[in-house]
Amino acid sequence: MRVFQIQDDWGMDHLQLATRPEPAPGPGQVLMRMRAAALNYRDLLVPNRGYGSFTGNLPLIPLSDGVGEVVEVGAGVTRVKVGDRVCPCFQQGWIAGEADLERITRTMGGPVDGTMADLVCLPEYGVVKVPAYLSDLEAATLPCAALTAWSALVTEERLGPGARVLVQGTGGVAIFAVQIARLFGAHVTVISSSDEKIARAKALGADAAINYRTTPEWAKASRAITGGRGFDHIVELGGEQTLPQSLRCIRPGGTLSMIGVVSGGTATVPLGLVVTRHVRLQGITVGHRDGFEAMLRAFEQHQVRPVIDRTFAFAELKEAMAYLKSGAHFGKVCIRH
Ligand SMILES: NC(=O)c1ccc[n+]([C@@H]2O[C@H](COP(=O)([O-])OP(=O)(O)OC[C@H]3O[C@@H](n4cnc5c(N)ncnc54)[C@H](OP(=O)(O)O)[C@@H]3O)[C@@H](O)[C@H]2O)c1
Repeated sequence: MRVFQIQDDWGMDHLQLATRPEPAPGPGQVLMRMRAAALNYRDLLVPNRGYGSFTGNLPLIPLSDGVGEVVEVGAGVTRVKVGDRVCPCFQQGWIAGEADLERITRTMGGPVDGTMADLVCLPEYGVVKVPAYLSDLEAATLPCAALTAWSALVTEERLGPGARVLVQGTGGVAIFAVQIARLFGAHVTVISSSDEKIARAKALGADAAINYRTTPEWAKASRAITGGRGFDHIVELGGEQTLPQSLRCIRPGGTLSMIGVVSGGTATVPLGLVVTRHVRLQGITVGHRDGFEAMLRAFEQHQVRPVIDRTFAFAELKEAMAYLKSGAHFGKVCIRH
């Protein structure tokens, strides 16, 4: 079968098209023929050994997200059947409950082989069935970005109507966060580098927006939006450049979901504000299968449609990665198998 893999050493140059023998499902395993995959910011880091401490074995098939059709099941499989459309869970070992090392470390697209393969074989407990209303490309976007936003706003927070939410940027996690926050009746503010993207975010339901390029002191500017009260919840995706400002515009007792570090991963922050404002600083690392299935039920009920910016062919993985890296996208970048 056709795969993309990081071959014999780390680095983008070692990411290449290759072939591997077709896998066969053992007891308790399902074999899926992949139909689509989707890129996440993380996929740009994995070929260069992730966040610095990533240790997977090579060769490694990249990308965590995708959707496939079950074409064969091993002995004893009961959760899915041949013909079902399924997504792999990002964290293969996290079914439910609190995060622990065993549950959160077996992640797709490194160290576990990912979705850039014609066929993927996984334990039946590591996949979820996707609703029929979603296209293959739409379904492919869900395992990491959508579930991360869901975990931040719903699993860990129980967002309520009228809550003031700030979302940073207009990438994959951010746009899902806008859609999910709207689902729960929240008031959503987006910050973005582009007026054009701001207009698109508003068309999608964002109530307010600030351009962080033209208004670098966006925390100050947001006072008018929250009536000086501050945000109840901030979906923190920027990290280094955004966290200090987030701490200035979170309301006392509010929650800051620490998710991403697109502007850098080492911040100097006014820690006193965490204390004096009684802020809940909640790290998020994607989420468990129970959360994924709850999210899919909500998405189906409300016919939530993932926002796909652009789709590339399987062989164009590197072009797709370069496009994601450029930051030109709004929502998700996908691969059609
Ligand atoms: N912890 C987890 O479980 C988890 C899961 C998924 C992703 N993540 C992390 O979350 C981050 C976003 O991932 P993604 O896949 O959604 O990325 P993405 O689709 O590449 O989106 C990145 C977006 O970030 C925005 N951005 C860049 N610099 C910014 C800044 N200084 N301030 C505010 N926004 C800025 C840009 O939006 P504009 O173009 O609108 O300015 C850009 O489009 C990454 O750091 C990723 O590693 C973490």
